[in-house]
Amino acid sequence: MCVKEKITYEGLLKGNLQWVEETLQSDPEYFNKLSMGHKPPILWIGCSDSRVPANQITNTNPGDIFVHRNIANVVVHTDMNMLSVLDYAVNVLEVEHVIVCGHYGCGGVEAALGSKQHGIIDNWLRNIKDTYRMHNHELDLISDPNKRCERLVELNVIEGVYNLSKTSIVQNKWADGKKLALHGWVYSLQTGFIKDLKVSCEANDHLSEVFKIIK
Ligand code: CO
Repeated sequence: MCVKEKITYEGLLKGNLQWVEETLQSDPEYFNKLSMGHKPPILWIGCSDSRVPANQITNTNPGDIFVHRNIANVVVHTDMNMLSVLDYAVNVLEVEHVIVCGHYGCGGVEAALGSKQHGIIDNWLRNIKDTYRMHNHELDLISDPNKRCERLVELNVIEGVYNLSKTSIVQNKWADGKKLALHGWVYSLQTGFIKDLKVSCEANDHLSEVFKIIK
């Protein structure tokens, strides 16, 4: 097992110098090109967990993915931060794909399954308890606590995708005939692989009438 060097504040700045040097060595125009602007085709909504960095796990680079992260990749329509990111990504950057990516072993989802108090974050995690309540018939049948938690990780992503499809931002884009696909993925910390939950949607026809918005 390799012993990891302790990450320090100063070490980050040193690391930055080294990265700039190495990057310029392989492409002297790298920063000039990147500073001209960006047109990422993807919006990523993921967990804040330090082990799930969007670019690294998808083998992509700066400029490729517009990113929003919060604890347990929760998507709720009252979150102004998420709505602002979504609106900017969809209407200004004109991304064609929005991916909600959760991960197995998510501490936020685990906490939502328990009864312990964790402070302010409990209010945020309440959204996941609501997802549990919506799917309790399925979840209560799973006796293994780890498997139950894994399924709630998936359901939290699936609800996130559906909540995105309910927004006026997404539905107005579809009403305009623009291409915009929503996807739900789960990343495995143990294997490094991403699982596509196959809940992609590109229209509002899966929504019940009360959630359909007429433009
Ligand atoms: Co997490």
